[in-house]
Amino acid sequence: MSGFLIRAAAVADAQTIAALNLACWRETYAGLLPAETFASLALDERVDHWRGVFGAGAGRVALALDPAGEAVGFSHWREHELILGGRLGRGGEICAIYLRRAAQGQGLGRRLARRAAEEMRASGLKWASLLVLRDNLPARRFYEAMDGRRFGRELFWRGVPQVAYGWRDVDRLAAHQ
Ligand SMILES: CC(C)(COP(=O)(O)OP(=O)(O)OC[C@H]1O[C@@H](n2cnc3c(N)ncnc32)[C@H](O)[C@@H]1OP(=O)(O)O)[C@@H](O)C(=O)NCCC(=O)NCCS
Repeated sequence: MSGFLIRAAAVADAQTIAALNLACWRETYAGLLPAETFASLALDERVDHWRGVFGAGAGRVALALDPAGEAVGFSHWREHELILGGRLGRGGEICAIYLRRAAQGQGLGRRLARRAAEEMRASGLKWASLLVLRDNLPARRFYEAMDGRRFGRELFWRGVPQVAYGWRDVDRLAAHQ
């Protein structure tokens, strides 16, 4: 895939990412989240959220740009701790991978996931996990195509069920073809 660029994002991108975040949520979650959830979404709140992420150094964010330099997607991961098999371990959590609809299905999601995994590996983390809405079937098919394995039980986000996927070996995600 050519023409699209992925670069590290910084606090100066908070407004751009917030607007993308809202646009992608609206495209992705119509019909999956209650209508009142959409009514309550506000750009200011999202800008504050992303400024907070950058301000706290809470993980790494990448921005995907189309050939015209327009932002079309982003990813965010952070370090987290999880008890697996009774043992506490450190890993990377993919908090978000979102692309505008027109940019989907062209390999950008794979590039963002691989980049996040490479950064986790460089940070000394061995495994990766994420949560996805149970009924977001296209995203689940994507994570399965990337060899993510379902684990754990259902959790809830904004009142709707979520499921977890994981990669025991972050190297495999970083090298996924
Ligand atoms: C999910 C998302 C990140 C995937 O990114 P993408 O660029 O569309 O996916 P890619 O083109 O990189 O595809 C990578 C692999 O996943 C597969 N895949 C992607 N979407 C798929 C789908 N809906 N069904 C089946 N396979 C799918 C591709 O076929 C490809 O596998 P292959 O190379 O073996 O054929 C993107 O579509 C998106 O942003 N969707 C809306 C937001 C969203 O739901 N984000 C996840 C929130 S948890």
